[in-house]
Amino acid sequence: MATPHNEAAPGDYAPVVLLPGDPLRAKYIAENFLDDVRQVNGVRNCLGFTGSYKGHPVSVQGTGMGIPSLSIYVTELATVYGVKTMLRVGSCGGIDPSVNIRDILLAQGSSTDSNVVENTFQAGVHYAPLANFELLHTAYMKAQEMGLSVRAGDIFAADRFYNDELDVQKLADYGVLGTEMESAGFYLLGAKYHFRALSILTVSDLLLREGSTTSKERETGFNDMIHLSLETAIA
Ligand code: ADE
Repeated sequence: MATPHNEAAPGDYAPVVLLPGDPLRAKYIAENFLDDVRQVNGVRNCLGFTGSYKGHPVSVQGTGMGIPSLSIYVTELATVYGVKTMLRVGSCGGIDPSVNIRDILLAQGSSTDSNVVENTFQAGVHYAPLANFELLHTAYMKAQEMGLSVRAGDIFAADRFYNDELDVQKLADYGVLGTEMESAGFYLLGAKYHFRALSILTVSDLLLREGSTTSKERETGFNDMIHLSLETAIA
């Protein structure tokens, strides 16, 4: 075993990896979007696959939910497997009033209530985790070409999915587009280990008004986002 969490051998991952939180979404992407696919990781059922997209080698690896779980897989992809570009493909809750279900959000930067960013720096320093601009720009331009409804902005990476003490309205007032549970930690690791990082997110629910999707829709209904991510990955 190459790491405690990953049985892949060095060289098993492509230089570009898509990162869904849900391992079954990794399987779905591999089976439906990639050619010549082989499974490279099955430890803890956190599935990883390598194949090709339009002739370019691409991998996809599940990360689990939240910054702690994602950080394990991402750190190992960067430091053990030499991955240079990672695109998180996930779902998020919409916060900004102009954001609708199924919109695609690009996390330009990521605010958080996780301590992981603060703990990395000396007291008083509030580091701003940012997307790789090249990937962000490419994804935004590709989305325009594909006619997708896309927005770029701040995504709040929450430490807790259920948190009735969080002032969501205040985040909306300060222009936060949506919330998920990973991007701030993901971008922090991109900065630390010098890989290109971008989170591309589909809005699955709304925090300040009515609207939701079923789990089946969440598993299979994100094809536009995956297509956009793959086009960005190989650009
Ligand atoms: N992922 C999808 N919807 C979410 C929400 N409402 N909060 C946190 N993460 C999410």
